[in-house]
Amino acid sequence: MIEIRNVHKSFGDLHVVKGVNLTVKKGEVLSIIGGSGSGKSTLLMCINGLEKIQQGSIVVDGVEVNDPNCDLNRLRERIGIVFQQWNAFPHMTVLENVMLAPRKVLKWGFGKAKKEAVKQLTHVGLGDKLDVFPSQLSGGQQQRMAIARALAMSPDYMLFDEATSALDPQLVGEVLDTMRMLSEDGMTMILVTHEIGFAREVSDRVAFFHKGLIHEIGTPQEVIDNPQKPETIQFLKSVV
Ligand SMILES: Nc1ncnc2c1ncn2[C@@H]1O[C@H](COP(=O)(O)OP(=O)(O)OP(=O)(O)O)[C@@H](O)[C@H]1O
Ligand SMILES: [Mg+2]
Repeated sequence: MIEIRNVHKSFGDLHVVKGVNLTVKKGEVLSIIGGSGSGKSTLLMCINGLEKIQQGSIVVDGVEVNDPNCDLNRLRERIGIVFQQWNAFPHMTVLENVMLAPRKVLKWGFGKAKKEAVKQLTHVGLGDKLDVFPSQLSGGQQQRMAIARALAMSPDYMLFDEATSALDPQLVGEVLDTMRMLSEDGMTMILVTHEIGFAREVSDRVAFFHKGLIHEIGTPQEVIDNPQKPETIQFLKSVV
């Protein structure tokens, strides 16, 4: 479970996250929607300790992320993150790219790392692309490789930050299909997304972010189909 309590984050004088409270339970899929600059990416970065918070607490399965004793490497093994774009190592094959972190970070032997990487690449539909180089993949395939890379660490949580927004429209569907499959597998996920239809379909809850706060949160039916706050209504009008 991820428990976010009164979290504040500033960059210098810029107060970006202004007291967010949020609990994400095991197996839950939460989508975060909201305008550009509202603090969505920043919150994701705080959850896996890539950014330090100034106030509040973030507790992942009982471990306080901002405790100086928190093992951030261990935390990041358990929380996979997929960004808009991931720069794979161009001189390594798809398989080698996915094997890298389990080998280096988890210290797995070659055989075990390869078996897991093949399994995850097959799971995301890239079983026939193991030995090609990343530049030989389409954008959608590259994003699926990034998902496989995160899954190869056997994470308990997956965070997605606009994983489809750098893709050509015809490639979005295949990446969304992969994310949908993960949700059906029971993965606990937080998705920052502009794909409102997808958020409605896969999410247990949707949070609308506005000016560094969760302005409205509820089921997709509540927040997307029947929003209550004027800002949510305005935002949804602007994106559909
Ligand atoms: N490393 C940083 N240093 C300084 N300011 C930052 C940094 N990262 C983000 N910001 C600022 O924090 C604010 C929130 O940024 P953030 O990336 O969290 O927004 P977002 O909701 O993800 O927006 P988008 O939908 O455009 O991705 C912005 O004003 C941004 O310029
Ligand atoms: Mg962002």
